[in-house]
Amino acid sequence: MIDEAYHEYVTDPSYRSAVPLALDTPNVLVARTFSKAFGMAGMRVGYGIGRAETMKALAKLKMPYNVSVFGVAAAMAALKDTAHMETERARNTAVRDFTVKALEEMGCKSAASQGNFIFTDVGRPAKDFRDACAKQGVIVGRDFPPFEKTHVRISIGTMDEMRKAVAVFRSVTRPGTTSLDGRRQEESWR
Ligand SMILES: Cc1ncc(COP(=O)(O)O)c(C=O)c1O
Repeated sequence: MIDEAYHEYVTDPSYRSAVPLALDTPNVLVARTFSKAFGMAGMRVGYGIGRAETMKALAKLKMPYNVSVFGVAAAMAALKDTAHMETERARNTAVRDFTVKALEEMGCKSAASQGNFIFTDVGRPAKDFRDACAKQGVIVGRDFPPFEKTHVRISIGTMDEMRKAVAVFRSVTRPGTTSLDGRRQEESWR
């Protein structure tokens, strides 16, 4: 099962969906969700793509009332609204670039992201960073072992939200932790 939960957000031209592979290979399927770029997590809708025989075998295992009529109607309407998805992809990319750059200026290097979140090296336990941000009203993602001693997962909100979040990240990042050439200095956070 190849999870393409963030498929709609991808802008990297070298990206290739695994759908052709799934349509060629009986034991491969691709999973997609309406919970991410479509913003419909509360609707609980997703879908799988694979060969007919693969999907038929899986259908035997599905729960009797697994998706709602409203969820399906919303999903169908959302799939047709390609203009909205273009806008959402561009919006997410712009806000993500802004956030990555701001973090970089604080000395926090981020892993390349094609989704709506950033995995960033804050150089201290995620819990410390999360607690400090929470005190100022910004929620940062849960621990992601085995990187919880140094990295945090930051979800991308609107530009307005991320401007506020970045100000909070800056205030919890001790002054003097970024050297003039942008590298984080080896100093304790405590
Ligand atoms: C990689 C990945 N796959 C799948 C999902 C689940 O999405 P759904 O809401 O459809 O269960 C998530 C959501 O957090 C995710 O991050």
